[in-house]
Amino acid sequence: MGTSFPNSKTLYLFFLIVLFIGSFSSPSKAFANESLTQCLINHSQPSHPITSAIYTPNKSSYSNVLQSYIRNLRFNTSDTPKPTLILTALHESHVQAAIVCAQKLSVQMKIRSGGHDYEGISYVSISSPFFILDMFNLRSVDVDIEAEMAWVQAGATLGEVYYGIAAKSKVHGFPAGVCPTVGVGGHFSGGGYGNMMRKYGLTVDNIVDARIINVNGEILDRESMGEDLFWAIRGGGGASFGVVLAYKINLVRVPQTVTVFSVPRTWEQNATEVVYKWEQVAPQLHEDLFIRLTMDVVNGTKAGEKTIRATFIALFLGDAQRLLSLMSNSFPELGLRSSDCIEMSWVESTLFWTNFPIGTPADALLSRTPQVLTHLKRKSDYVKQIIPKDGLELIWRRMIELERPMLTFNPYGGKMGEIPATNTPFPHRAGNLWKVQYATNWDENGDEAARHYIELTRKLYRYMTPFVSKNPREAFLNYRDLDLGINHNGDESYEEGRVYGVKYFKGNFNRLVEIKTKVDPGNFFRNEQSIPVLPQ
Ligand SMILES: Cc1cc2nc3c(=O)[nH]c(=O)nc-3n(C[C@H](O)[C@H](O)[C@H](O)COP(=O)(O)OP(=O)(O)OC[C@H]3O[C@@H](n4cnc5c(N)ncnc54)[C@H](O)[C@@H]3O)c2cc1C
Ligand SMILES: *[C@@H]1O[C@H](CO)[C@@H](O)[C@H](O)[C@H]1NC(C)=O
Ligand SMILES: *[C@@H]1O[C@H](CO)[C@@H](O)[C@H](O)[C@H]1NC(C)=O
Ligand SMILES: *[C@@H]1O[C@H](CO)[C@@H](O)[C@H](O)[C@H]1NC(C)=O
Ligand SMILES: *[C@@H]1O[C@H](CO)[C@@H](O)[C@H](O)[C@H]1NC(C)=O
Ligand SMILES: *[C@@H]1O[C@H](CO)[C@@H](O)[C@H](O)[C@H]1NC(C)=O
Ligand SMILES: *[C@@H]1O[C@H](CO)[C@@H](O)[C@H](O)[C@H]1NC(C)=O
Repeated sequence: MGTSFPNSKTLYLFFLIVLFIGSFSSPSKAFANESLTQCLINHSQPSHPITSAIYTPNKSSYSNVLQSYIRNLRFNTSDTPKPTLILTALHESHVQAAIVCAQKLSVQMKIRSGGHDYEGISYVSISSPFFILDMFNLRSVDVDIEAEMAWVQAGATLGEVYYGIAAKSKVHGFPAGVCPTVGVGGHFSGGGYGNMMRKYGLTVDNIVDARIINVNGEILDRESMGEDLFWAIRGGGGASFGVVLAYKINLVRVPQTVTVFSVPRTWEQNATEVVYKWEQVAPQLHEDLFIRLTMDVVNGTKAGEKTIRATFIALFLGDAQRLLSLMSNSFPELGLRSSDCIEMSWVESTLFWTNFPIGTPADALLSRTPQVLTHLKRKSDYVKQIIPKDGLELIWRRMIELERPMLTFNPYGGKMGEIPATNTPFPHRAGNLWKVQYATNWDENGDEAARHYIELTRKLYRYMTPFVSKNPREAFLNYRDLDLGINHNGDESYEEGRVYGVKYFKGNFNRLVEIKTKVDPGNFFRNEQSIPVLPQ
């Protein structure tokens, strides 16, 4: 099993030793920051000066820039390996300079858009020296309602995309994730699921063009990159193949009025019956209706006692009346009342889903400050068979023992079952009932707390083994989990890559490797879980 490498003192010491040895063997490594700065300046165009985009550790704003997009406080410690430089690209030519110079000076490049990677691999590295190419300045959202399309740059957030669409139309939306500060660069290139996936599929199912910069520093679009590479960057993770500058997306139609609800049921309130029924109906319901199920541990009715709370959170693409009749036919066990249903516009529903109070103005979507910042660990699973009632109760007893980890089930069906598994690198299509997310958050700083809460999460994952996919035990790339394997990008890179690769991509892994080998044979675009090249 992998460890949480940036917390590990051992690896940090190793990192220091490498740096120390490096300072004798190669001056360009010890002062990577200085030669890199010089190279970037040498390779920038006078019309687009680069110096104001360069942050070296001797600049007082360096820490601020670094921390601005750290979205997991587990990686906001003094032990966390730090980049030798941050380039906050202001122009596409800056990205080109970064790619050329990183290769010239053998400095590893990490690409960061929204910084929401659960394992921080967009801004932390096990190899040194490394620097960050930060994309947050490249964030335009150009919506063309007549064509029902938009170009969105990698540094935009989901909130900016949703806001940009809603500012021009009340009847268009886009199927992507729930948290508005998530970045386009990582989210779109890694799959992207949200509460409209039963009707419209994933984000990657709605991408029609892209602009990327390849290992030679060339800007390519769909036509010039070809269908293989275009396929790979719709779910295979952008960071293995190039720097994504922008995606062109198809907007989808949404009704002027949608309906949401959030209804909790504790174990004492017959959650077993209701959840068991949810398992059977949620993946079969009308595709206009998406009902997420989250389960967490809360205080019971008796003092000192804990219980399980199952919360059913819905987006319905229609009005409350139609929703109520659909629910009373298909899922009467939930006992949905009209007072539970809240009608609103689609853009307001994106605010509801991320826990903003009802009535919050839509421009809250433009804030780049996350509502909550914590230390966190996430894992994922896929379920293909109904979990029996005694199985559910066994899981709940374990959860009460562990107390902190939560479970979220996101139902499939609808469009998700119709799209062939080879259409995009994302392979988890027909045959799945729902996706599981394991989520543990904590406030305490330090390695000991991190180890403790990560271990709780792994325990719950082990308890779930009988109920989830096997051979391989499938996982979702956007729910980055270094427990699935780490690539050191050395001689064993292909073998190491297969370990996590088949879990994230199943049969699509081989095609990703072939494409990678063609477009980046030197493995410049690499990270702890990138797609490896074929061994010679
Ligand atoms: C609070 C929260 C809520 C989330 N909700 C959802 C959800 O509802 N649905 C869902 O599917 N996922 C969700 N995620 C996961 C999220 O989709 C992934 O973490 C995603 O990769 C984040 O993208 P980013 O640009 O913010 O991340 P980053 O950390 O910047 O990047 C993630 C990965 O993509 C690479 N990358 C980033 N930009 C580029 C680029 N321009 N070109 C090439 N490679 C690039 C990075 O190098 C890194 O490997 C959530 C995450 C968080 C923290
Ligand atoms: C930058 O350019 C100068 C002058 O052309 C050259 O001497 C120097 O080696 C270059 N530095 C790097 C790091 O490319
Ligand atoms: C570059 O790194 C070296 C060694 O870590 C450090 O001494 C120096 O101050 C750094 N320079 C800049 C420009 O940050
Ligand atoms: C940081 O170091 C670089 C290179 O050594 C130098 O050019 C720059 O002026 C320094 N900046 C500050 C703020 O000290
Ligand atoms: C990250 O760490 C720095 C330095 O310890 C601290 O000042 C900052 O508040 C931290 N960020 C958050 C969001 O806690
Ligand atoms: C739980 O189920 C029992 C038996 O079906 C029923 O009598 C009771 O009212 C239900 N409780 C709740 C809170 O729905
Ligand atoms: C749960 O109960 C504990 C005591 O057992 C108490 O300290 C805590 O505040 C309660 N939490 C909530 C959310 O009521």
